[in-house]
Parts: sequence; C-alpha cells; structure tokens
Amino acid sequence: MTDTASDPLKAELLQIALDAAHHAGAFLRDGRPDDLGVAATKSSAADVVTEMDIASEKLITGLIADLRPDDGVVGEEGASVEGTSGIQWVIDPIDGTVNYLYGLPSWAVSIAARKDGETVVGVVHAPMRGETCRAVLGEGAYVNDRAARVRPAPAFGLALVGTGFGYLAERRARQAEVVRQLIPQVRDIRRGGSAAIDLCDVATGRLDAYYERGLNPWDYAAGDLIAREAGALTGGRPGEPLSPDLTIAAPPGLFEPLQRLLEELGAWHD
Ligand code: IPD
Ligand code: CA
Repeated sequence: MTDTASDPLKAELLQIALDAAHHAGAFLRDGRPDDLGVAATKSSAADVVTEMDIASEKLITGLIADLRPDDGVVGEEGASVEGTSGIQWVIDPIDGTVNYLYGLPSWAVSIAARKDGETVVGVVHAPMRGETCRAVLGEGAYVNDRAARVRPAPAFGLALVGTGFGYLAERRARQAEVVRQLIPQVRDIRRGGSAAIDLCDVATGRLDAYYERGLNPWDYAAGDLIAREAGALTGGRPGEPLSPDLTIAAPPGLFEPLQRLLEELGAWHD
C-alpha cells in the first residue's frame, strides 16, 4: 500500500507504519490458532497476553529495526529501545486482545511515530473490518481511501459515547459508577474493546465521543492523531492533554460539556 505525505520523513514513517501494520494484521488474521490460549497475565488475571501479541510485536519491531535502526521503540509487550534519531515508535501489537482471544472481530494493530515527542504519524489497522485509519500531522485523516471526518456535535442527550474499562477490579468499580451517572444523560454507551478502534470510530463518525481512564500511550498514540486530524478535540482533565489519567475525544461543542461532566463525576481517578 502506498501513501504519501508532503514531508519526505513523514512519508517514509507513514509507509513503514502502514507496511508493518498490514504485515502484522495479516499474520494475526490468518495465523490465529483455533485453540489460542493465554500465554501470560499482566496487571490482573483478566489482563491477558497471547503468544500472538508477542509474535506480532516482534514482527513489527523487526521490520522497523531493519529500516530505521536508530529509532526508539516502545511497545505494549515490552519492546523498549532508547534510539538516537529523535523518532520514537509507539506500538500496540494487538489492541483489543480480549476480543482477539475470544474470536470477536474488534481488534487492531496500532502504530504511531513520534518526532521529538510529538506524534506525527498514526496508523490503526483493523483487519476483520477491512479498514485502515491513518493520519499525518497537519495533513488530515483517512479511512482506507476516504477522508475521515467527525460527526457534527449532537445535543448532549443524543450523544453515542464509547468507553472502556481497565483490568483492575477497583478501577472497574469506579468506572462503572461513572457510567451509571453518565448513561441517563446521553443517547447510549458502547464498549467495543479496543481503544484504538474507538478513537477511529470518533474520527469516522461512528461514535460521537469516547473517553476512558487508564489507557497507556500505545493504546491512544495513533488513534489520538487520527481523531484530531478528523476534526475531534482530544484531551484529559480540563486544561490538560490526554494522558493515562484520562483520554477524551469528541467534536467541538460536545467535547467541552463532556470534559466538564467527566471532571464532575471524577472519571480521572480510581
Ligand atoms: C485494552 C483495550 C480496551 C481498553 C483497555 C485497554 P489491550 O488494550 O484498548 O478497549 O478498555 O483499557 O487496555 O489490552 O487489548 O491491548
Ligand atoms: Ca492496547
């Protein structure tokens, strides 16, 4: 798949991210064992890693290291290279691992490239949807070959809001309490199981908004850029950028009241 950006470095990073995401996506889709099991657990028994998460991360980091050996890398399954070039890759080899484990289709490979700390390229490839979302900083967002654009902000009470839940029981109980108070005030809630896809769904108008506490940079780096380039505002607590404390994405007009309400409801703490 060939794609361009006006700046040659960004064009190169985009091409590498697209190639790596497509290779990993095909490997994951075609190679998923019927008897796929849990290889390890992380923060809790529900926070699982499969052999395919590990193999996908190896495949992606191997491709990047061959082409750009001086770049830094951070990946969900432990990849960690400091790098000397000023470029850092932020990789989620399977976002939506629990969906992948169960054979549900909503999972994606998420790859972002940061230049001196700023995300300049983001790719979220969802093989079972046949969709790749991509964005280059300042150059818009695309889903396959179509420009991606957020849905105009609806009245607050008509917003379809995506969210997700962490893996620790205490955090989930608090997150459920926030949803309990939010759900009577909006159209409905969706829990898709992949933060990267949720952010793309805001970018393409399939969700009005998305928020979640407790994400890691590999969950949101690519999707954040895609959502912003599609016209969304993203952030965390009022006045703060999005972070592991809180990630919010929504079009202008919906973002502000949602951010205010989430602050009141304490969505940013356990
Ligand atoms: C998870 C997914 C999920 C979100 C969790 C993430 P993983 O990532 O993005 O939607 O609710 O907070 O940890 O574990 O499938 O890579
Ligand atoms: Ca993830």
